[in-house]
Amino acid sequence: PVIYFVTPTYPRREQIPELTRLAHTLLHVPRLHWLVADDQEKCNGYMDTLLNRFGIPYTHMVSPMPSKFRNEKPAPRGVANRRAALQWLRQHNLTNGILYFGDDDNTYDLRLFTEIRKTQRVSMFPVGLIADYGVSGPVVRKGKVVAFLDSWVAGRRWPVDMAGFAVSLEYMAQYPYVNMPYKPGYEEDLFLRSIGLKMDQIEPRGNNCTEILVWHTQTKSKKLGMVRLESKYLDDRSNLGAL
Ligand code: UGA
Ligand code: MN
Repeated sequence: PVIYFVTPTYPRREQIPELTRLAHTLLHVPRLHWLVADDQEKCNGYMDTLLNRFGIPYTHMVSPMPSKFRNEKPAPRGVANRRAALQWLRQHNLTNGILYFGDDDNTYDLRLFTEIRKTQRVSMFPVGLIADYGVSGPVVRKGKVVAFLDSWVAGRRWPVDMAGFAVSLEYMAQYPYVNMPYKPGYEEDLFLRSIGLKMDQIEPRGNNCTEILVWHTQTKSKKLGMVRLESKYLDDRSNLGAL
């Protein structure tokens, strides 16, 4: 099956380096379609120039965060983007393949792709560098997921990170009300509830969840106040010399 790798991204000075690094990982992966959903108002020439040059099969969409959420703290980051990608998958009636939410700043071991390609319904695996414990992931006993380790459980039924699971589109197609709400911290939980996940269905990956194949790395960044300025700068095609 094809892996549909959904990447939310947004304009800031680190956007091009993050996407370049991620592309150089994805270039090693066969049968992958990259859904790049950009958090801005309009399709932008610089993004297409960049994505085209990588040579990875991709779809570029824009999906701005609704303005009412922009100033919330925390804001629902990457949600409008993932919702747009879910809508795209549904509109194209893609019921064959594997869905994976891969943020633009995480670090992916190539073995992750072999693991998620085997997904029958929903597979799960640990994510490194998450919060205080430094890892978030399923606890496995006798080959079955029985619990979760996460430093911020916060009443979630599925206390997992966005990068810690993959879903088969064939399985997801059975659920007409697939949803990812604008609720910071609860996106994964409510998405997994919306596809009717049950504990005994979860397929543990990465040697029964003992191997870390994806890390929640974060790039040290300038304050968000820079973002609008940057996007204005990037919109100006006269600045595209470097691309
Ligand atoms: C953590 C989780 O790993 C994310 O999956 C989750 O969406 C996020 O928390 C959250 O719930 O806020 P974190 O590293 O804290 O991620 O957040 P970012 O990497 O800044 O953002 C997540 C994704 O959304 C990234 O791919 C980023 O490019 C994108 N994003 C971020 C936007 O599209 N718009 C923004 O304004 C900010
Ligand atoms: Mn991140």
